[in-house]
Parts: sequence; C-alpha cells; structure tokens
Amino acid sequence: MTRKEIWVLSSHNHGKIKELKDILEPYGVGLSSAAEMSLPEPEETEKTFVGNAILKAEAARDETGMVCLADDSGLCVDALGGDPGVLSARWGGEARDFDLAMRRVHEALEALETNDRTARFVCVIALARPDGSVRDHVGEIVGSIVWPPRGDDGFGYDAIFQPEGHNRTFAEMSRDEKRALSHRGRALASLVSEEFG
Ligand code: IMP
Repeated sequence: MTRKEIWVLSSHNHGKIKELKDILEPYGVGLSSAAEMSLPEPEETEKTFVGNAILKAEAARDETGMVCLADDSGLCVDALGGDPGVLSARWGGEARDFDLAMRRVHEALEALETNDRTARFVCVIALARPDGSVRDHVGEIVGSIVWPPRGDDGFGYDAIFQPEGHNRTFAEMSRDEKRALSHRGRALASLVSEEFG
C-alpha cells in the first residue's frame, strides 16, 4: 500500500474512533480524532442526520484544512413520526441516561395504543475535503422496539432494538455481529466502496 493519508474524525467518542480507525487503516488512511487535536465540538443545530454530519465535517475541515470525517446517528421509531431521531442523545437528558431514554420510547409507544413497533437506526457519515467538496453516506438497519430491554453488551438504545430477521437485540449480540449489521457499518461500507472501491 503506497497511499498514506491522515484524515480527521470529528468525534470525541472513543468507541467510534477505534471502530473507524480499524476499518480505514487497511486502506492506508490514519485517523486523528477531534479529541486528540483538541478541536471544539460544534453544536448539532440541524434537523437532519445529513445536515448535522456535514456541519461537523465542515467545521473540522475549516479548523484544520485537512480531509475530515463526521457522523451523526440515531434511532427513528415509525409510530413516533421518526422520534427520537436527531435528538436521540438528548432523550437521555443532561446525564445521557439511556435507561430513561429507552423508557421514554416505550411509554410514548404505549400512550399511542399502537402495535406498530417498527424502528430503524440511521447513520450518516460525511467526508469534507479542503477543496470544498462534501460527500455523504447513509446506512440504515430496520428492526423493531422490544420491551423490556434485553442484553448488557450495547450502549444507547441497543437493548430495545431487535434487527429484522433476528431474535436478539443489538445488546445481546457480540460487537462483531452488531458491526456487520449496523447502520454505522453500512454507511462506512458505502464510504469505503466509493473512496477505495
Ligand atoms: P451521535 O451520532 O454521537 O450524535 O449519537 C446519537 C445517539 O443515537 C447516541 O447517543 C445513541 O443514543 C443513539 N445511537 C446511535 N447509534 C446507536 C447504536 O448503534 N446503538 C444504540 N444507540 C445508538
């Protein structure tokens, strides 16, 4: 591999940083994270995942003048009109309490008296280059909301999300199993195929 580039990842989340580093390394791309470069975390003011991913990638690109990657993701529940959506992290309150956030999803569904439990995780990864170009890649995984929560291995809403065609939640799967199915894995596969395919 002759190519060697360093891209910036606009994230302070160590799990995400490690996952992306592992995936991009074989393509000769090293990642330097916003945390390692002490970059500020821009406020996510957009109403869509695409808008927020681009906002973060462009902010990092403007700070560094380098190729920058950013992602935005969340859980969209059909019967709730796509909520919590871009506010997924905020449904856990200041303390980012996801037991609370999962309960809020459950209670909102119960209040509707619907049997529709369809939901999807969505992830958008944006890549901003110093020449001003921006590309975005969307990954989705469809499934359903279960209650009560099951499994200990996940984060966020993993324990109430069961992907279609499976009888375990994301929190009951190994990290590799989830990665192969997940919205983030799918958005990344699209990026890798476009950039290196
Ligand atoms: P962000 O993309 O870092 O802004 O995260 C958005 C929020 O969506 C996270 O805090 C989680 O609550 C939720 N989320 C995103 N991806 C996942 C996932 O794979 N499992 C569980 N929750 C997720």
